[in-house]
Amino acid sequence: MLIPPIVRMRTVRRKLFFNGATHVATPRKNDKGMEGYRTGRFPEGSILVYDFLKTEDDAYSEGRTNESARRFTSVMVKDSKRYSATGGWGFEEFRGDSQTDRMIGAEAPTKCYACHTSQKDRDYVFSAFRK
Ligand code: HEC
Repeated sequence: MLIPPIVRMRTVRRKLFFNGATHVATPRKNDKGMEGYRTGRFPEGSILVYDFLKTEDDAYSEGRTNESARRFTSVMVKDSKRYSATGGWGFEEFRGDSQTDRMIGAEAPTKCYACHTSQKDRDYVFSAFRK
């Protein structure tokens, strides 16, 4: 599975808390992704990227959440022909800061798509812009 280089064109900062606030997740999208968020249908070539960052232990204990090192990035790429088996989206995760060290590969249908199918009516995307 080939994933294009991660595109960092626009940034939407939003913090999510998993496992007792040990991660910060920051969604990013390219312009096509932005169109999908506006219209509810994501055009071919849309790229959605989630950064999963560690949090600073010290800050957390003080009631603040500051970003630290990157744990991995989760990526979704819209290519309906290539990824027809998984809702038209390619799913992958890259270890640490790497854009080549893949953590998912052929397991995307069970490790990613299986959960994202619950959002079928929203083109398999969970997140939305906060109004
Ligand atoms: C158990 C359910 C579950 C699994 C498994 C899962 N995701 Fe998600 N994913 C979510 C949820 C929930 C969100 C939205 C979080 C939010 O914005 O609050 C999300 C968000 C995302 C986003 C941002 C776009 C969106 O849909 O909001 C990407 C990219 C993503 N996931 C990729 C992946 C990849 C790649 C995998 C497999 C390695 C994966 N996900 C596995 C539940 C899941």
